Amino acid sequence: MRIFPAFLSLLLLLLPVACGGGKAGGGKGKRKWIIGFSQCNNAEPWRAAMNKALLAEAARHADEIEVILVDAQNDSAKQRSDVENLVTRGIDLLIISPKEATPLTRPVKKVFESGTPVIVLDRDIDEPAYTCFIGAPNEPIGEMAGKYAVELLGGKGNVVEIMGLQSTPPGRERHEGFLKGIAGSRLKIIYSQDAAWLREEGMKVMENALQAFPKIDLVYAHNDPMALGARRAAEAAGRAAEMKFIGIDGLPDEGVKAVLEGKLDATFWYPTCGKEAVQTALKILHGEKVPKRIDLKSMRITRENAVQFLEMVGASVPEGGTKKEER
Ligand code: FRU
Repeated sequence: MRIFPAFLSLLLLLLPVACGGGKAGGGKGKRKWIIGFSQCNNAEPWRAAMNKALLAEAARHADEIEVILVDAQNDSAKQRSDVENLVTRGIDLLIISPKEATPLTRPVKKVFESGTPVIVLDRDIDEPAYTCFIGAPNEPIGEMAGKYAVELLGGKGNVVEIMGLQSTPPGRERHEGFLKGIAGSRLKIIYSQDAAWLREEGMKVMENALQAFPKIDLVYAHNDPMALGARRAAEAAGRAAEMKFIGIDGLPDEGVKAVLEGKLDATFWYPTCGKEAVQTALKILHGEKVPKRIDLKSMRITRENAVQFLEMVGASVPEGGTKKEER
């Protein structure tokens, strides 16, 4: 039988690809592992910080892995097709931080059940159809925030709650946790609205609250952007000094900075899990067993410990950072 030379060279070209599955992982003669990273949006500051941490850690292992990052632009339907497209491109592992639980559960489950390892970050899905989930438990964060609100107000007062998107587990759990934290006190949630994690929306919710309620003692927002949006609205109404502001995320150049400037009374650290995602991905790709859930720790950040916190996470401390700015 005669084999045409063109056919032969095609065969030789395809051979390494066909046999490459088990040989990935960098090094001589091996191809790199391809990690698909589906991020729900690149625009929010906390997401940008997560991407930065994840890509920096991936760069440290550039001989073994390559990351393809896709931005779902805060659209669950787009994120569903992003996941499908990544699979078509031939990834060895999927990392996803889903926008919403329910619309993303089925696509993630499909990838996982096909045998591709999956790491879910920060926002959980409806079923544990993944290799590993990494995030900081949200209910305890809400509870810590509730307890601190009670402390700040001396046990009594009117609270406006600006909620994260309620179709996401962190939004629901930060609410449930807060209720636990204020249970037994005389703190009253007089207004509670979903502001979809967005600063602008937080500002609008607060404008409505300010119009409806003459006495607001504290604003609890499920993230720092919404807390800062709310503060902006209160400042515009000339009422910011009447109330306390609590947020969550604790990014050095956002929430922690606002705490040091006296714009927020507290924020709670919500680690971005970018670095841990890559470290866990490498373990999985190397065939090591990893836990089903990796819980990252949180902590309260106030003026008392903000500088210490910045030092702990290796962020730069602003000049005069320890000084209190009067409101
Ligand atoms: C960013 C963000 C953070 C928040 C997290 C909750 O998209 O809203 O501010 O802590 O998502 O999933």
